[in-house]
Amino acid sequence: MEFCRSLPKIELHAHINGSISEKTMQELLQKRSQEGSKDPIERWTTTIEKGDKSLDEIFAMFKVIHQISNNTDAAYKITYDIIHEFAEDNVKYVELRTTPRAVPDTGMTKELYLESVLKAIADCEKEDLDIIVKLILAIDRRSDVNIANETVDLAVKYKQISNGKVIGIDLSGDPSVNDARDFIPAFKCARSKGLKLALHLAEVLDQNAETESVLDLPPDRIGHGTFLHPEVGGTESLVAKVKQHKTPLELCLTSNVKGRTVKAFDNHQFKYWYDMGHPCVVCTDDKGVFATSLSKEYKLAAETFDISQQDLYQLSYKAIDHIFDTEDTKAILRQKWCTFAENTFKANIRNLQ
Ligand code: IMP
Ligand code: ZN
Repeated sequence: MEFCRSLPKIELHAHINGSISEKTMQELLQKRSQEGSKDPIERWTTTIEKGDKSLDEIFAMFKVIHQISNNTDAAYKITYDIIHEFAEDNVKYVELRTTPRAVPDTGMTKELYLESVLKAIADCEKEDLDIIVKLILAIDRRSDVNIANETVDLAVKYKQISNGKVIGIDLSGDPSVNDARDFIPAFKCARSKGLKLALHLAEVLDQNAETESVLDLPPDRIGHGTFLHPEVGGTESLVAKVKQHKTPLELCLTSNVKGRTVKAFDNHQFKYWYDMGHPCVVCTDDKGVFATSLSKEYKLAAETFDISQQDLYQLSYKAIDHIFDTEDTKAILRQKWCTFAENTFKANIRNLQ
């Protein structure tokens, strides 16, 4: 764990409202009760410390979390705290993602929500945190095409206003709802406007036709891809498309096991793709809901799949290739990783001599 904590890391799949830490959640709940809210919320309804839950139960948890984060102050605090927590965990570059949300009761519009998130990112940038933060806007599968188009428009608008902080579009939300193919025109429009695409795909079984069409875009990265390969109900054709485009997979071990889409850690699709040398990026998904951290996910990967420290370093180093930011940012990050490797592995070799 000590090595995993000290390892510089890249986080590419983190939903803002799923990443709220226990501490932040407690503070938000306290504030809520001080303000006289009549419907008390227990903290255990927002996180899975032990055991697992069905995806239905997990999406019900998000509804509870959204009740707590229903105003711009909360959105600012959550984003600000998450960035500090990732920085403390030695994450040097993070792409947060979030669904623009309006709550008329509190006066929060989608624009005000995004401005609070972006203000938190800008304020963290002014501090000495050693982390680069970018933002991806999410289309919830529950939305209709008009909302999806509106999200793309917001991404384009805030990409400009924020000087490139907004860099992409995500498709997420309950994977059993609606059909991702409906959003393909919105994805194409986003791409034509310079936005990258990180899409949740094949998160549940029996979506091969939908996945097949979306893979033809192709997306720039795939979230989960749990059911792509034939051994679990996917197809050779899906695998061939992912391989052909070398589309990186964002893999979240704890999330998939606690969300019961994967039976146990050693059944995780990480093994299938990692063993064939396909680009894999270890991510947290929802570090608050699933009570994890990126260091814990690296440790889990190392223990489950018997990965050495050097290979773990390579795994984290190669993630730099798959960020949505510029080549200049990649060069800055690679330099940091090289400094870490020089200090760590040379010291290790010296200790052995
Ligand atoms: P938000 O977009 O910042 O509000 O983060 C919470 C949202 O992320 C949830 O309401 C879902 O739409 C999405 N999300 C979080 N985890 C998952 C997942 O495992 N699969 C699909 N969507 C997810
Ligand atoms: Zn996700």
